[in-house]
Amino acid sequence: GASFTTVESGKLIMSTNAAFPPYEMTDDNGQIIGIDPEIAGAIAEKLGLELVIEDMEFDASQTAVQQGKSDICMAGLTVDEDRLAVMDFSNSYATGIQVIIVKEGSDVTLDNLGDQLIGTQRGTTGDIYCTDDYGADHVVPYDNGITAVQALMNDQVDCVVIDNAPAKEFVAANAGLTILDTEYALEDYAIGFAKGNTALVEAVNGALAELIGDGTVQAILDKYIAA
Ligand code: ARG
Repeated sequence: GASFTTVESGKLIMSTNAAFPPYEMTDDNGQIIGIDPEIAGAIAEKLGLELVIEDMEFDASQTAVQQGKSDICMAGLTVDEDRLAVMDFSNSYATGIQVIIVKEGSDVTLDNLGDQLIGTQRGTTGDIYCTDDYGADHVVPYDNGITAVQALMNDQVDCVVIDNAPAKEFVAANAGLTILDTEYALEDYAIGFAKGNTALVEAVNGALAELIGDGTVQAILDKYIAA
């Protein structure tokens, strides 16, 4: 393919929202770590670029790439139809499941979700799907997933709809919560690009195919997600 350019020569700028463990989170030293930084780092290395990570709100991480302020948005980002209209995506590198977190002993089920007050992370597919399915009156969007979980602990919402990987971490860290067995939606995670940035999409897809083919991506997923 044609040779690609990046926002800053020699760099691959990744916009993200580092409040989504284990895909991206901040460690005790303020370093952004997780599945996405590691995969992005491996891609950058293959492309001969230095990875630069910029942390911001989840919605902003998408607009940054759409507006050409970052090269890639990597944020456990789900491919969906509305986003495909405004950005391009790489091939998928992982899957996610929207799950329902409740307090232990709660009578919330997938079938009566429409009667509940549902906490979400603003702008996520969980937020968008719940609003579409049950109406904005039933959805309380928070700035990030852990804030939504804290609202559940404080009985301000009846449940939280969020991706399974952070859900497991939040439930493990907070006694009295559990994840319902019934899944709300299945999704593919991919890397987002500005619409029409085909040369970079192709370059990243090439690197990603090698990293999937040689087991690097699976090893990174296994390192962060317990079987
Ligand atoms: N997979 C969901 C979505 O794309 C949630 C992603 C949230 N990611 C984050 N880094 N906060 O909408």
